[in-house]
Amino acid sequence: MVQSNIRFEQVNKSFGTLRVVDDLNLVIEQGEFVSLLGPSGSGKTTILMMLAGFEAPTSGTISLGSQRIDQLPPHKRNMGVVFQNYALFPHMDVASNVAFPLEMRGTPKAEIGERVTRVLDMVQLGALKDRKPSQLSGGQQQRVALARALVFEPSVVLMDEPLGALDKQLREQMQLDIRALHRRLGLTIVFVTHDQSEALTMSDRIAVFNRGKIEQIGSPREIYDQPHSRFVAQFIGETNLVEGTLAENGKSGATVALPGGGQIRVQPSGAQLASQKILVSVRPERIRLDTGNKADNSYSATITDAVYHGDHLRIQLDDDAFGFIVKADRKQAELAPGDRVTVSFSASDCWMLPA
Ligand SMILES: Nc1ncnc2c1ncn2[C@@H]1O[C@H](COP(=O)(O)OP(=O)(O)OP(=O)(O)O)[C@@H](O)[C@H]1O
Ligand SMILES: [Mg+2]
Repeated sequence: MVQSNIRFEQVNKSFGTLRVVDDLNLVIEQGEFVSLLGPSGSGKTTILMMLAGFEAPTSGTISLGSQRIDQLPPHKRNMGVVFQNYALFPHMDVASNVAFPLEMRGTPKAEIGERVTRVLDMVQLGALKDRKPSQLSGGQQQRVALARALVFEPSVVLMDEPLGALDKQLREQMQLDIRALHRRLGLTIVFVTHDQSEALTMSDRIAVFNRGKIEQIGSPREIYDQPHSRFVAQFIGETNLVEGTLAENGKSGATVALPGGGQIRVQPSGAQLASQKILVSVRPERIRLDTGNKADNSYSATITDAVYHGDHLRIQLDDDAFGFIVKADRKQAELAPGDRVTVSFSASDCWMLPA
């Protein structure tokens, strides 16, 4: 099979004087699930609209395989699109909504019926095919929109926050369903979200956007464990940051000296750290409050706050442990403000960022 990668090359998009997408260079492999993640206004929807053909780049090229597509109208790009608000036709029943893209393409009547039945079964809506969108729940409407995007068997599906309107339980179920479809049909999916846990659980790769630029792109693991900047470290999950100066960065280990005189043993960095000023990032779930085990880093500190969250205990420490937030095991639920604890974490969980 011919590989049909999606390729953005030097793509810019401005609205008036506002540059919304800034020199985007991005290749999405065929069959890949890539999430575009970033704060509101960072350009995610605009990028998807340019890929779908509803917006034109101000400059640069977009291609699919060997074909340049940025001049093609949407229906010639053969991409399924699921918008945030579903955009179903309110006066048409479920089956007619799903049949619409096939009718647009002049598919023979008999074949339309067959394909609509098949795709509605796939999203488990066969029994509701005669209902109007207003007679469906949010999750059911979302699945109609998904069926309509898949019915003409596109190889690429674009989704703009498709699950944003659903409650948590339904959203998690739909995440699993979309992932299963992605694998089963070998689809290329470009998925816009501002929900970081959704991006982490669903994607092969995540592109983190900040003001129209890719701040970092990589696997969920790379993005979470090896953020390149303070922005990425704080946008993906929660983290503790301490500022210091790089004292040692060698094969045997690395050390960051703290202004107060202490130090933190950290994971050595292969990257050229331009400045001596360093931020150390430590995720709250990597910090332990038990004594006993010998750790690379160990401090004695006092708990200033402890909140029970059911599956974990969220603890704040005083300045003796840098005011760190810790996600403690719920077995430690008896911990309370005022308690003196031993705080420990390993060097491999301390990641250096430029300050
Ligand atoms: N048609 C338009 N005309 C003028 N400005 C626009 C237009 N569409 C988007 N913008 C601006 O472009 C910027 C990026 O918008 P975009 O919708 O791509 O952001 P987003 O990352 O999808 O945000 P959100 O998470 O809120 O959906 C915003 O500042 C927005 O106001
Ligand atoms: Mg958007």
